[in-house]
Order: sequence, then C-alpha cells, then structure tokens
Amino acid sequence: MAQSFDLVVIGGGPGGYVCALRAAQLGQKVAVVEKRATLGGTCLNVGCIPSKALLVSSENYSATQHAWAEHGIKVAGVELDLAQMQARKAEVVKANTRGVEFLFKKNKIAWIKGAGRILGAGRVAVTGTGGADEEIAAKAIVIATGSESMPLAGVAVDEKRIVTSTGALELAAVPKHLVVIGGGVIGLELGSVWNRLGAEVTVVEFLDRLIPGNDLEVARAFERVLAKQGMKFRLSSKVTKAEASETGVALTVEPAKGGAAETIAADVVLLAIGRRPYTEGLGLAEAGVALDKRGRVEVGAHFATSVAGIYAIGDVIAGPMLAHKAEDEGVALAEHLAGKAGHVNYDAIPGVVYTWPEVASVGQTEEQLKEAGIAYAVGKFPFTANGRARAMGCTDGFVKILADKATDRLLGCHILGPDAGALIAEIVTALEFGASAEDVARVCHAHPTLSEAVKEAALATAGRALHI
Ligand code: FAD
Ligand code: NAI
Repeated sequence: MAQSFDLVVIGGGPGGYVCALRAAQLGQKVAVVEKRATLGGTCLNVGCIPSKALLVSSENYSATQHAWAEHGIKVAGVELDLAQMQARKAEVVKANTRGVEFLFKKNKIAWIKGAGRILGAGRVAVTGTGGADEEIAAKAIVIATGSESMPLAGVAVDEKRIVTSTGALELAAVPKHLVVIGGGVIGLELGSVWNRLGAEVTVVEFLDRLIPGNDLEVARAFERVLAKQGMKFRLSSKVTKAEASETGVALTVEPAKGGAAETIAADVVLLAIGRRPYTEGLGLAEAGVALDKRGRVEVGAHFATSVAGIYAIGDVIAGPMLAHKAEDEGVALAEHLAGKAGHVNYDAIPGVVYTWPEVASVGQTEEQLKEAGIAYAVGKFPFTANGRARAMGCTDGFVKILADKATDRLLGCHILGPDAGALIAEIVTALEFGASAEDVARVCHAHPTLSEAVKEAALATAGRALHI
C-alpha cells in the first residue's frame, strides 16, 4: 500500500517547507519530498542565509580595517582567516537547516528523501538515494522546486574558476580579480563580499544601469557608493566568451550594442545574470502540467496548475524570486486548501539588497509611475541630515517616498541607506493599510533613529520636511 497524505509538497525550500508547516498547523497530514541532503532549499543552503553570513563577516572585516579608527579605536594586525569565516558560515547554515528539520518533527511532517516525479493527479513517485522508486498518494500536490542559475552561451560554469553564486559562496582563497557578469542582486552582494575581503571586483552589466527593476535614481546613487568602495563597473557591456585555464579566465567583452571586443583577465568569474525556474525530472509534460513561455509553471487562482489537484508556488512560478514571496504563497495555498481565505498582495512585496548601505524598495518606482501616467509627489530625505546616521557614521543614501498627487496615498518607497531592509517594513505595513504619506508623517518616530528619515521623506512629499 502506498503511503497516503492530504498534501505532498515537492521541494523543501521556503515556499515548500512553510506551506507544509501551515498545512500541518491546520490539521493536514503532510509530506515533503526533498532531494537535497538538508531542508531549507536554495535559500537556507546556498542562497539567502550563507550570503548574509558572509556579508556580515566581510563587513566586520572591512569596518575593522577602515571604519573603527574614526571612532578612536585603533586595531593593529588585522588578518583575514577565510577558513574560519567559511566555517562560521557553514555553522549558520547548519543551524538553520536543522531548525527546519526540528520544525518538521514538531509538526509531524514526513520528510521523504529523494527526487519527486509527478505521475498524475494524486500520485508522486520518489526516487530515493538508493535509486529505488516509492509511490505516494496525495489529495493535493504542491510543486515548490524553486530555481537555478541561468546559463550563458560561451561561459561554461565549473564552480571553480567560473562560478555561480553557489561556487562564489565557497571560494577558499580571495581572488585577485573577480569579474562578475550581471549587475543584479547576486552580483552586487557577492561582489561586495569579495571586494571587502581584498579582491579587485569588476562588474560587467548588459544594461546602462545596475539592479534593474529598482528605482533608477536609487540605482545611480548605489552605483556611486559601490564605486567609492572600490568596485568597478562596465555598463552597457556583454561577455561573449570565457576561456578558463589553470591560471585564470580570459573574458571577451563587447559593447552591448556590438562593436570592438576586448579581453579582460580574471582569476574567478561569477556568472549572475538571473535565475530560471527548475522543473527538471518532475514529469510535468507527461502529467499535463502547463508551463508559460518562460518555462515557469503556469498557475491560475489559488496557485492551481492546469491539472486539478496540482498546485505550484515560489520561484518556479511567476513573480519576484524572493524567499518571503515564496513563503507567503505557501501560507496562502495551505490556508486555501484547508478551506480558509489565504491571499498574497503582490503590490506590497519588499525587495532588499543586503550590501552596505542596503537598498530596499516596495511598491512602484518613479519610472513605473511615469509610464503608467500616474501623477505623483516625491518626498526625499538624505541620511546626512539624520542625527542617528551621523552618529553611526553611515550617511550615504536617502529615503524616497512616492505618493499619489491627488489623494496622497502611498505608491512606493525606495531607500538607499543603513538598515534600509528594516526601515522599509514600516512602509510595507502602511501600503497594506492603504495609508497616505501624511499618515506616515503624523506617526511618532523615536529619536534618534534612522526611521526618522522615513518620516521626514513622508513630510517632504508635501514640502514639509523639518530637518532640511
Ligand atoms: P528553493 O529554495 O529553490 O527550494 C526548492 C527545493 O526543491 C530545493 O531544495 C531543491 O533541491 C528541491 N527540489 C527541486 N526539484 C525537486 C524534485 N524533483 N524532488 C525533490 N526535491 C526537489 N531571497 C530573498 O528573499 N532574500 C535574500 O537575501 C536572498 N538571497 C539569495 C542569495 C542567493 C545567492 C540566491 C541564489 C538566492 C537568494 N534569494 C534570496 C532567493 C531565494 O533563495 C529564493 O527566492 C527562494 O529560495 C525560493 O524558494 P522556493 O521554495 O521557491 O525554492
Ligand atoms: P538579477 O535579475 O537580479 O540580475 C541579473 C543582472 O544581469 C541584470 O542586471 C541583467 O541586466 C544582467 N544581465 C543579464 N544578461 C546579461 C549578460 N549577458 N551580460 C551581462 N549582464 C547581463 O539576477 P541575479 O543577480 O542573478 O539574482 C537572481 C535572483 O535571485 C534575483 O533576481 C533575486 O530574485 C534573487 N536574489 C535575491 C536576493 C535578495 O533578495 N537580497 C539576493 C540574491 C538573489
């Protein structure tokens, strides 16, 4: 007799494991099929968590070298122990993945170890590590198989000299010259890590700007800040070939629009031009589960695929490839399957780049508002005018708030600055409540905190900022 569950989730990342937790809380009998040796998916194993561990460590190293003297703290003989930094990162990852395993036990969720394949509605085959197939039955199946790094023709990844984010998190030595292909989130976060640890970092970006999708004014200011930190940018450029040898990589770079090619020498190349949905070996075509033009699992209302009883969430479907988006979808789906009303507000999903300073955004950008023909007011406030930022010595950046010109309703917020990722939460909440810029401006913000810059930017939408 096949084991039978109310819900079988394929993929134990933030989408899948959170969906499983919520379904179990709601009384469902749940199994998660995961082929990786640990739970937590890309995010906990090779994504959000290890990258943030290295970002914190490298920031500490850099601050010890460059920032503490100004505070009157003299430190001599600062040395990098990269092996220890990597060991700490591995411990952080382990604690997190074990944490999910503990939560599974606590909630009586079965972890079925192996690769899942959908045989049709209600039926999943699992190929375990030993190679044998086990069939399990489910009233509902959730595809939460995530994404993988996007390949680039002419650039063969070996995860040693030419790496994806996974290899870039594991380097055993600081490269002399790291060339990053792609000026997006991964390129700038991991580029920052190795730049702080002593590598020369050159970012080759196809477009004429960094972090596409973010507010352009913020992206331009961000580029200047990163350039001040020593990162070099080759915008409007494309890599057409990468030849790895024992000693390094020879990269052929051309202007994006075509033109004379030149060669750049790198010790390590990080390919970070985006991620694509991962559906390999899932048997979707055979099961009749439709994909969209970009290879994502197509979903309709309540994450339903083209086959009744099969659902999909997270990076494998449309929308921003973010852990919190995947988690919220997991919760909404579990609640829907239990007969409750779950929903995700795609207009209020924050995005954060965890560099220093950070970039955080939610809602619409100025470019999007212009394109949509929406009349808006802009309020900006620089961290140079915030007392706490001055005390911290972190005055790079500003808060920018966009509000509807006629109604004052908040439309977006874009922050470059210290702890921007934490500061944006206030505006995400305000957006969810349909607040106006004046609502935010009238709220009492503790002094001296960075959050006062958010209040001032809200005041500035009406020309009423106080401290500038
Ligand atoms: P995943 O986390 O990719 O999990 C999918 C799981 O499914 C994997 O464990 C995989 O092994 C398993 N799987 C796939 N196919 C099968 C199968 N057939 N059978 C069994 N198991 C299968 N997002 C943020 O919000 N904040 C960040 O700071 C952030 N940092 C990132 C840094 C890096 C370097 C990277 C690469 C990504 C980062 N992300 C970040 C993105 C984030 O990791 C993803 O959005 C998130 O992991 C998506 O969750 P998911 O559950 O959809 O898929
Ligand atoms: P990305 O989409 O953020 O950036 C890719 C960049 O590569 C873009 O700027 C694009 O214009 C550029 N590009 C595309 N093709 C190119 C080419 N041939 N040559 C040069 N440049 C090219 O993708 P990235 O950085 O790989 O990250 C993937 C996803 O992972 C992100 O979109 C995000 O969803 C997630 N992520 C989130 C993080 C966070 O929330 N802090 C951190 C890391 C990843």
